[in-house]
Amino acid sequence: MYCRTFDKLTVTKKLGSAEGICYNEHNTAVMTLEVQHMIIAIANQKGGVGKTTTAINLGGNLAQRGRRVLLVDLDPQGNAATCLGIQKQRLEQTVGEVLLGETPIQEAIMPTGRPGFDILPATPDLAGTAVSLAGLMARETRLRQALAVVANQYDFILIDCPPSLDLLTVNGLASANQVVIPLQCEFLALEGLAQLKETIELIRTHLNSTLFIGGVVMTMYDGRANLARQVVEEVRRYFPQRIFNTIIPRNIRLSEAPSHGELIAEYDPQSRGAQAYAALAEELLQREETRR
Ligand SMILES: Nc1ncnc2c1ncn2[C@@H]1O[C@H](COP(=O)(O)OP(=O)(O)O)[C@@H](O)[C@H]1O
Ligand SMILES: [Mg+2]
Repeated sequence: MYCRTFDKLTVTKKLGSAEGICYNEHNTAVMTLEVQHMIIAIANQKGGVGKTTTAINLGGNLAQRGRRVLLVDLDPQGNAATCLGIQKQRLEQTVGEVLLGETPIQEAIMPTGRPGFDILPATPDLAGTAVSLAGLMARETRLRQALAVVANQYDFILIDCPPSLDLLTVNGLASANQVVIPLQCEFLALEGLAQLKETIELIRTHLNSTLFIGGVVMTMYDGRANLARQVVEEVRRYFPQRIFNTIIPRNIRLSEAPSHGELIAEYDPQSRGAQAYAALAEELLQREETRR
């Protein structure tokens, strides 16, 4: 549910919403609305292209703008929680147990310590989970089933996919409304994209017919390099409508922030990286606004 929708409907103060029912400041249900949430899979089977960096910083920026955000870490490297400053020892129940049906999702979701920003974390055990999952019923839609239980509590759910097109990524894509693809501005950036698009098509045919490619985010752009400019032009030709106008620059501060357990907006809000991710969040919100 977007705050703007609440404003339009003159709900004076949003204190909570569940199952489409909104409550006013007296905690009285005031009207029933269709709850809208957007589930975004951040996917690219190449590693090191900026998926996790985009997931955490986009999530942080959306939460800063008053949206309720859940970040789902689907990568067995389990980096997302660490990047957000959450100690590994604090992780008890994780996305792995949720996928295996051993833990209710509500028990595995934890706050990131930032208002409106929660995480469903992962640990390296997730690699083993993926193997066990292969032999289970409804193996491709386990995450979707789990997210359905909590989806109404969030405006955005961002799924940080692993660097492969395995069952975990399939779960991510089967759960999502849209895919956002980070692409590094480098030689062969488009390589592997045909395979990703093919996987997305298969998911649309068999599991999730309304899934769409929401956008391509160009990352680690070095404006001094001719090659980077050429790559952006090439991707523009390949995805004319889909490429985000916001381009994420290569910025050392972005690579330093995770080691401090901070988002770029916390670590260095003036940096070019922080400004770029803030602009990306704005652009995404504008796109969602025009889509509705
Ligand atoms: N725009 C950027 N500028 C500089 N370093 C970046 C940028 N985006 C990501 N990085 C760094 O590059 C590495 C890979 O990024 P990451 O987001 O983990 O990629 P992925 O999740 O696709 O594997 C990390 O060390 C990260 O801090
Ligand atoms: Mg990652």
